[in-house]
Amino acid sequence: MSESEQPILEVRDLRQFFPIQEGLLRRVVGYVKAVNGVSLTINQGETLGLVGESGCGKSTLGRAILRLYEPTGGEVIFHHQDRQLSVLDLDRHGMRQVRANMQMIFQDPFASLNERMTVLDNVIEPLVCNGIGSRPEREATAENLLAQVGLRKEHLRRYPHSFSGGQRQRIGIARALSIEPKFVVADEPVFALDVSVQAQILNLMKELQAQLGLSYLFISHDMAVIRYVADRIAVMYVGKLVEYAERDELLRHPAHPYTEALHSAVPRLSQKDSGNRRRNRILLKASPPDPGNLPPGCVFQTRCHYAEEQCRQEEPPLREISTIHSVACHLAEELNLSGI
Ligand SMILES: Nc1ncnc2c1ncn2[C@@H]1O[C@H](COP(=O)(O)OP(=O)(O)OP(=O)(O)O)[C@@H](O)[C@H]1O
Ligand code: SF4
Ligand SMILES: [Mg+2]
Repeated sequence: MSESEQPILEVRDLRQFFPIQEGLLRRVVGYVKAVNGVSLTINQGETLGLVGESGCGKSTLGRAILRLYEPTGGEVIFHHQDRQLSVLDLDRHGMRQVRANMQMIFQDPFASLNERMTVLDNVIEPLVCNGIGSRPEREATAENLLAQVGLRKEHLRRYPHSFSGGQRQRIGIARALSIEPKFVVADEPVFALDVSVQAQILNLMKELQAQLGLSYLFISHDMAVIRYVADRIAVMYVGKLVEYAERDELLRHPAHPYTEALHSAVPRLSQKDSGNRRRNRILLKASPPDPGNLPPGCVFQTRCHYAEEQCRQEEPPLREISTIHSVACHLAEELNLSGI
């Protein structure tokens, strides 16, 4: 659990639609509803894990929150120094201040650094862009940060190509933290790394969170990674949150069939982990629907093993089933789903 229940970020009914254009005149014939009415809260010092299959809208949600896109609608409220800032309404000056407090760590450690700049210049770039500190002050900050992420001072003069994937991700983390953000979107930060290095980076991120009081929106398609890092978990499916709960609650008592299927895909580590129960992998039918052409009723009905007639007619809203657990399923109270 997080130390504090004070929110740092609130997202309300956020939508990010991309136009689908056709023909010579690029006529708009529809929209890809990449983020389709998402609401969530991230508390100070906590990690909210966002999990779902490829293409469900996780990165788009992270980018829309940071306003790297101009969202189609909704609200993003950032709590900053006793003020509540409506991020989507800020002008350029206001946005600059907020950006300094909200950073992103990217999936690909090989693409997120500038190859032509030294490690030092990569790490201090956010400080330069925001006009923070003198050159010697920036260098001192970079030295400190490099030590914090487990690299050495002499690495600062080298270029990114001479580092391994894990080291590059450490440099990416130092860069994101150089400006002392309060909130970080980490988009699949260990996806491109060997399994042995993944644990090191996840532990590093946890240590830095404890030291600096950071809040993370941690994005991954991998439930095993999310289980390891998150305080609370949001499960996303084709642009929507379908389940949202405290971690242990979501692991032990999943209430959405999609979450049950994601759990079933996580390999068990040991007999102790598996208890006496066998867990069979739930193979989902077909692929997710096209976010530009959604089915009627429940967004998951085309793949759900439990679907009934009501599911094909009515869309289930995300509703609270307890103070720590929300789900978008008509049958949540009736299904006895398998957790971990
Ligand atoms: N700039 C864009 N223009 C049009 N469609 C887009 C754009 N960016 C994303 N999409 C579409 O929005 C949907 C969500 O994409 P997104 O990259 O957010 O998914 P994701 O969950 O991050 O997937 P992955 O796990 O593969 O990274 C996809 O259908 C994608 O094709
Ligand atoms: S509402 Fe119906 S189709 Fe949707 S997840 Fe629940 S049981 Fe499955
Ligand atoms: Mg993504």
